[in-house]
Amino acid sequence: MNYMNLVVKKNFNFLKGETEIPSDKSLSHRAVIFSSLAKGKSVIKNFSKGQDPNSSLEICKELGVDIEKDNQTIIVNSDGILKKPSKYLYCGNSGTTMRLMTGVLSGQNFDCVLTGDDSLSARPMKRIIEPLSLMGAKISSQDFHAPLNICGSKLTGITYESKIASAQVKSCVLLSGLFAQGTTRYKEIYPSRNHTEVMLKNMGANIFEQDGYICIEKSELEPFEINICGDISSCAYFIVAGLLVPNSKIILKNIGLNPTRSGVIEVVKQMGGDIEILDQREVCGEAVGDIKVEYSPDMKGVEICGEIIPKLIDEIPVIAVLATQCKGQTVIKDAQDLRNKESDRIETTVKELSKLGADIEQTPDGMIINGKTKLNGGVEVESYKDHRLAMSLYVAGLVCKKEILIKDFEWVNISFPEFLELFEKLK
Ligand code: S3P
Repeated sequence: MNYMNLVVKKNFNFLKGETEIPSDKSLSHRAVIFSSLAKGKSVIKNFSKGQDPNSSLEICKELGVDIEKDNQTIIVNSDGILKKPSKYLYCGNSGTTMRLMTGVLSGQNFDCVLTGDDSLSARPMKRIIEPLSLMGAKISSQDFHAPLNICGSKLTGITYESKIASAQVKSCVLLSGLFAQGTTRYKEIYPSRNHTEVMLKNMGANIFEQDGYICIEKSELEPFEINICGDISSCAYFIVAGLLVPNSKIILKNIGLNPTRSGVIEVVKQMGGDIEILDQREVCGEAVGDIKVEYSPDMKGVEICGEIIPKLIDEIPVIAVLATQCKGQTVIKDAQDLRNKESDRIETTVKELSKLGADIEQTPDGMIINGKTKLNGGVEVESYKDHRLAMSLYVAGLVCKKEILIKDFEWVNISFPEFLELFEKLK
């Protein structure tokens, strides 16, 4: 990987115009994994160009699925049965790939090993190994970290209440439920993103809600066709930039607005930001719309906690940037799982925004930000090889007095290789 440091300054007098935002990462992972489990031909349009979804795609190929890629259209031809891979399955930086694939692979009739890069190998896997083991899965690891050695086995459904709101854990357990005897029933403290449930239902899985549990039974999936919408998490950087860069007015087109994902819009509204949803519609069971954002100099701090946290978990670093420019205090609570992401995002966000001149401090489960502060800049900041931190710092750089240098900016390619190009388009 080429290391690239990026200098950011007040690059824009304003942001103007319309742009589409690249394909949703969560939906791209699920579309390629689930269609690999379905017998027949599936067509996935607008598949993500990010490295993470590509890790899922490459693993499905290793498992014997015929996948053709024509630009961003993916044709999956599967006989619905995965084959023993001839090598280790490399998940790269992608927690979604590792956790969802572990669910799928635990119930197969072959053994395999899932590996990841240094960052992924440091992330906790106990959260999936525990419920899967209760179902009869045989997974060995070094202290609950990757590499994960999976010995395919016969699984039995369980009733499980998760203490964390995690779509990766939920999806992992539901996917293993597709291969288990009996019903698998899952409940979480707060609802996390429900793309897995929506997509599996559309593909004919026997998945339903009962007494507050999501339940799934052994099912054969039908192939499908999907056109993936724009990623609200990628869109969040443009939303915040549009709110902060003077005289901006932008329209972000074809964005996923699934209510379990779009907490950032609720927060911006509470802060008094000028944001509006246009032309809301439904595509493949998912809410989609266009988002209009205008420069909003008079925003105020808010408290962000509880049920909304999983709906904006990936957006917290850029929301912290926004909060530095809001009048008063923003308190973020109940977000301790941010410490388990590609970096410890509480620690890294607070540390790097402090360097820019923000009034921000960490708490065990979040952060407290006092605004409005003039961000000085004039320093080098670290991305900690974390794509979301790199992009959040870029947005902060747009409103710093002096230029900043972001180290290792190329990590943006994990989710959003088109990031800089799209910003230039809005000049
Ligand atoms: C994801 C779920 C979230 C999120 C990640 C993508 C998914 O992780 O942070 O970027 O696609 O299911 P958790 O489920 O660990 O909260």
